[in-house]
Order: sequence, then C-alpha cells, then structure tokens
Amino acid sequence: MPAQILDGKKIAAEVRQQVQQEVAQLKKQGITPGLAVVLVGDDPASQVYVRNKHRACEEVGIHSVVHRLPAETSQAQLLDLVKQLNIDPRIHGILVQLPLPDHIDEKTVIDTIALEKDVDGFGPANVGNLVIGDKCFYPCTPHGCMVLLDKTGIDPKGKKAVIVGRSNIVGKPMAMMLLARHATVTICHSRTQNLADECRQADILVAAVGKPEMITGDMIKEGAVVIDVGINRVAEKKLVGDVHFASAAEKASWITPVPGGVGPMTIAMLLKNTVEAARR
Ligand code: GUN
Repeated sequence: MPAQILDGKKIAAEVRQQVQQEVAQLKKQGITPGLAVVLVGDDPASQVYVRNKHRACEEVGIHSVVHRLPAETSQAQLLDLVKQLNIDPRIHGILVQLPLPDHIDEKTVIDTIALEKDVDGFGPANVGNLVIGDKCFYPCTPHGCMVLLDKTGIDPKGKKAVIVGRSNIVGKPMAMMLLARHATVTICHSRTQNLADECRQADILVAAVGKPEMITGDMIKEGAVVIDVGINRVAEKKLVGDVHFASAAEKASWITPVPGGVGPMTIAMLLKNTVEAARR
C-alpha cells in the first residue's frame, strides 16, 4: 500500500497559527518577540531561506531584522555585530545563516551568540544541555521532524531509528531527540559499511545527507516512517530530497514529500524558539 504523506506544510501552518496567538499574548504584556537574522555573502539558497524566515516572522507578528553583509565582511566585523545584538533588548533571538564564507570561522561566531538568544540551538552550551536532557533550544530542523512525528501520532518509543547523516545541524541533534523519546538510535554516515542493510533495520528512517535521491525503496523496511530532510536542486526548477520518493513511498507507511515536508517545519520551529526566547 502506498505511504501516507507526512504533511509538513499543513502541520507547519498549524504551528505558525499557534505561535501567532502566543505572540499576540506576549504583546499584551508589552513584549514584542524580536529575531535578528544575519546573512553574510550572496549564497542563493541562503538568500531564499533568509527571505522565507523574515516573511514568516512578519506573518506571525515577530519583529524581524535582517542584516545582509557583503561576502568580504571580516570575522571581527561579524563578531562586533553579534555582540551588539547580544545586548539589544529588542532582539530575543539571533540566527547567523550558515554556511559562512571560508575566511570566517563558524565555530567562533556561533560561540559568540548569547546562550539565551541562541534560537538555532547550535552553541556549545545549548548542545550540552540537549545531550544531558536539560532545558534548551531544540535545533529547528530536527525539532520540526519530531513535531511531525508527534502531530501524526507516531511514537518513537522502543522503535529502531536510523539517521543517515551526522551533521551538527541535523544528524547529531536528531539522534539525541529520538533517544530522549526512547528510540534505539543508529547514526550512519559516509564511512558506514552496508548502509542499505542499516537502513532496512529502521522503523523510523531520517535522511539528512544532502545527496539527491540516494535512499531508494530497496533500502526501506516495509511499513517504515521515512523523513527526508534533504533539499537538493537538480534542475533549474526541480527540488528533490535525499530519498527517491516514488520507490520509497511503495514501502513506507508514512513519508515526507520534498518540498512541503521538513522544510516548512524548520521555519515554524524557529518562530516557536524565538517566542520561547522572548518569554524567558
Ligand atoms: N543553514 C542551513 N540550515 C540552517 C539553520 O537551520 N540555521 C542556520 N543558521 N543556518 C542554516
């Protein structure tokens, strides 16, 4: 039986509506949540992501400021801006869009963002809290994946989850979140032997490698839940995920489409984290 669709677009709209109500509530208390997004350079994909984040903020009433800096911006200039934003009372969340140009050290920049404004959840203190299971900001993309599961009534407890990809942005935090929800978690990566065999063990398979359609139907267990984090541009107007949708959908019970799956959830979770930062 073909898979049911994990509809990120619909669920993200529900989350945004809830965030909108929370923003209205905060405004009644005299607090307008504020997000600063910093974009360095002119990477076309990053420009689209930043524009979408800004629009989403405006729609729910979050004060959004985008700092667009030229590619030649020095690391010192970028750090100065982050430090200013750290002490700006109108700004509750700071997001520096990645990747940064090669001459800037991402880690130094991320480490400079104040813990209480780290709405991406990428800073070391936040990551540590996530691993321990303490209060933290959940990184937006894996958080979005968890909400997709929850809102669809899929409980990871006791299930075997396989994550393909070990990035700091998705793979590693996804593993921690699934573990916290009592899944048995395997993280696979480019050196994993017998990747297809590992994937076929998965009750929940999360693909986050950035390789167009590399996970095919033969790598999926009958009835698995498939979450595709990949967004790969393969032609002028064509986006595909890391999963070969047609063949995977024949085996899976649930699957996210690309676009319209995880992507909209990431932005919705950023809005949620910004409101949470303002509330704290
Ligand atoms: N680049 C790709 N995804 C993300 C994200 O979630 N946050 C930031 N800051 N940069 C990204």
